[in-house]
Amino acid sequence: MKFFIDTANLDQIKEAQDLGILDGVTTNPSLMAKEGVSGHENIINHYLRICDIVDGDVSAEVISTDFKGIIEEGEYLASLNKQIVVKVPMISEGVKAIKYFNDKNIKTNCTLVFSSGQAIIAAKAGATYLSPFIGRLDDISSDGLNLISEIRDIYDNYDFTTEILAASIRHTMHIIDCAKIGADVVTTPLSAIKGLLNHPLTDSGLKKFLEDHKKSNS
Ligand code: E4P
Repeated sequence: MKFFIDTANLDQIKEAQDLGILDGVTTNPSLMAKEGVSGHENIINHYLRICDIVDGDVSAEVISTDFKGIIEEGEYLASLNKQIVVKVPMISEGVKAIKYFNDKNIKTNCTLVFSSGQAIIAAKAGATYLSPFIGRLDDISSDGLNLISEIRDIYDNYDFTTEILAASIRHTMHIIDCAKIGADVVTTPLSAIKGLLNHPLTDSGLKKFLEDHKKSNS
């Protein structure tokens, strides 16, 4: 399972990269705004900075909602760096654009996915990644993980190559459950990645080992 970090915060991206387990980054317009990144030039420079920090794929989301606009924006974003994946919303114009990008060997991440039907359409169009938002489904009393499971079954039935990128992750158990289901990628906040590391028995066990070593070597 690949690990992407879901943020535009450069310090957090560096911290995750330094851990040595990072495979990529996803951003969206809200995450960019949260970091105070605004204006075309600043946004582009920010994507380039992220590409400098990590080795893997970096999702950059288009703002256009019409086919022509999505194509223009996406081709420009993809030309910036080979790590850029064009993030396209799951709307009909977006689906057409995903097909277009796929024919041109430009990687895409189909975002704002909330149903298995949408997942089928995105795979048929040739999306590289599919981003079902599990946390946002949980937020409205729907079962986000069940959606990941359903899509896994469907994609396996037909050997679709689109990678399931579980998004809108809220906590560590989402990551573990996604791994059990067989999501190809999880994109998570840094806190959830770090949460996977922690166990009180590790801490108390290490403390005791170090104390015993000190006693027998003093
Ligand atoms: C990632 O690609 C998504 O944009 C992101 O995971 C959405 O997360 P949120 O529901 O916490 O905003």
